[in-house]
Amino acid sequence: MTRSSAIGADNEVVISPLPRVLDPHRLPNHIAIIMDGNGRWANERRLPRAMGHSAGVDALKRTLRLCSDWGINVLTVYAFSTENWSRPREEVNFLMSLFERVLKKELQSLNLKKVRIDFLGDLDQLPSRLQDLINEATEVTAKNNGICFNVCTNYGGRRELVLAAQRLALKAVEGDLDPNLIDENIFASELLTANSGDPDLLIRTSGERRLSNFLLWQLAYSEIHVTDIYWPDFDVKDLTSALLDYQSRTRRFGGVEPMPPNDI
Ligand code: IPE
Ligand code: IPE
Ligand code: MG
Repeated sequence: MTRSSAIGADNEVVISPLPRVLDPHRLPNHIAIIMDGNGRWANERRLPRAMGHSAGVDALKRTLRLCSDWGINVLTVYAFSTENWSRPREEVNFLMSLFERVLKKELQSLNLKKVRIDFLGDLDQLPSRLQDLINEATEVTAKNNGICFNVCTNYGGRRELVLAAQRLALKAVEGDLDPNLIDENIFASELLTANSGDPDLLIRTSGERRLSNFLLWQLAYSEIHVTDIYWPDFDVKDLTSALLDYQSRTRRFGGVEPMPPNDI
């Protein structure tokens, strides 16, 4: 059995095969997603925004399962930003209780699928019941060897950078680190993604073309795919399109494209 699966009728294991249009040897190692458009999805249906967030959870479950089945090693999603506290209190409260409900309900199946879940962000500002669940989920799944699933919750890229700088400054003041030795590797090792590395592909749904304070350091060389689809509608064909788009790119990292021998 491969490492991930959905449990179908009669507990039969169902694994989604990689679509044939995709090259299995050129998949991104790490995908990051700004899951945006829940509110507009609901508005278009004359539903409360909360219903959009609930529908967004289904899209997330679908996407995590596909990424796991297709052999993606790391999926990092933006669930709640440091700026999202400025939303109406009822929406923030709904989101926090939705995170709790979903985590409680899904923990067992995440664990069965060998998912290693981690939460990135300032977690101590979250409701204490949610913090307890996060700690439990992180501990229970820590030794799993399946997809690494990072959920950015109360996450802000600038905040993450400031905290990394603070930690390095403290080490320097305490005499444990020579400031002249701080390089990109040392800096990156202080970030919340120290164990996951940088995303190869960033997907943003709902057509917005901005980072909204997401992974400011880590996205330096990621390929960016923006789709107009609202997050709750994001499905297998949209993930396939994003991966096809990724596979059509030439990643130069500031270098030049290799030329065929007779063109040199
Ligand atoms: C993304 O959807 C979910 C969160 C930010 C929590 P939005 O709630 O931002 O949906 P829109 O952008 O208003 O449509
Ligand atoms: C980014 O979406 C945050 C999440 C998806 C959690 P927002 O909807 O908050 O971003 P802006 O306000 O459009 O930049
Ligand atoms: Mg939005």
